[in-house]
Amino acid sequence: MAKIGKDVASARKLLETDDVVAIPTETVYGLAGNALSENAVLKIFKIKNRPFFDPLIVHIRGDEDLDHYVRNVPDSARELAARFWPGPLTLLLEKNQIIPLLVTSGSPRVAVRAPQHPLTRELLGLLSFPLAAPSANPFGYISPTRAEHVDELLGKHISYILDGGPCTVGIESTIIGWENDRPVLYRPGGIPIDTIEAITGKLGVPASAGTPSAAGQLKSHYAPRAKVITGTISELLNQYKQEAADSIGVLSFQKDYGIPNQRVLSPSGNLDEAARNFFAYLRALDRPGTTLILAEYVPDAGLGKAINDRLQKASA
Ligand code: TXA
Ligand code: MG
Repeated sequence: MAKIGKDVASARKLLETDDVVAIPTETVYGLAGNALSENAVLKIFKIKNRPFFDPLIVHIRGDEDLDHYVRNVPDSARELAARFWPGPLTLLLEKNQIIPLLVTSGSPRVAVRAPQHPLTRELLGLLSFPLAAPSANPFGYISPTRAEHVDELLGKHISYILDGGPCTVGIESTIIGWENDRPVLYRPGGIPIDTIEAITGKLGVPASAGTPSAAGQLKSHYAPRAKVITGTISELLNQYKQEAADSIGVLSFQKDYGIPNQRVLSPSGNLDEAARNFFAYLRALDRPGTTLILAEYVPDAGLGKAINDRLQKASA
């Protein structure tokens, strides 16, 4: 198992020698390495068992660092960075030479974001390079929102987890890019689409939709070991009533169905709370013996869009 602690200096030392470290962000925990070192980046792909066609997000301190790593930045990108960084927003922009093609899976564009967690901001302030960091889970599995989740999943392969407590947003960053000078949504996430559109106007859909290498667009993702089935919970319970009770888990939005293996995302119907709980609850339901997780979509507003996107991919 990995060492878990709050020692930013230890994390720094490891990262400066091309080692990888799990880091807290406001969205989910990341598996971080020096983004400018192919050596470190290779370790990330290897530990996650991630295919090389799926590129990594580069974490920077803030918009003051932007021009080191990207060029031809649209005005609306600068506006978004000024408004939402540090925070759960990733911008897909034309990369500078200094970013290795390994990070972008050969693409001329790199995904960059400035994370908000104070420990990780402190760490970035001590480093002379940005951090490439995908979510700290094995490829395709549920994203980690606590240090212990990372330890369970990847603890064997990493020496240090910087413990920043539970993630306050709980869902990955929103990813925005530009196609023919128009802003496009690649992945709904921690900043609601409406909040972004208030600045950019209506976001487009990617022309590349459907290709597996496009941001956050792999059809199956975030998946537990148990099969996830979505629908109306009461109907699903009726449909699967002949299954053994302890083989079924229920993930509901507000309502308690009196099932022993159930999690309610937000009894008061708060979508921010639901987002914060989503991955941890999915993981808690995915225990040995559970073969089916019955889940319902949440209202399609605010962070609900991002939650529903994850739920759909978990059930694909
Ligand atoms: O909130 C987050 O974004 C978290 C934390 C750790 O920052 N990170 C995260 O990384 O969710 P990951 O690797 O799990 O998801 C990043 C998504 C992937 O779907 C990837 O395909 C896409 O971003 N992506 C990254 N770089 C890209 C690029 N150059 N072009 C297109 N898509 C890119
Ligand atoms: Mg991920």
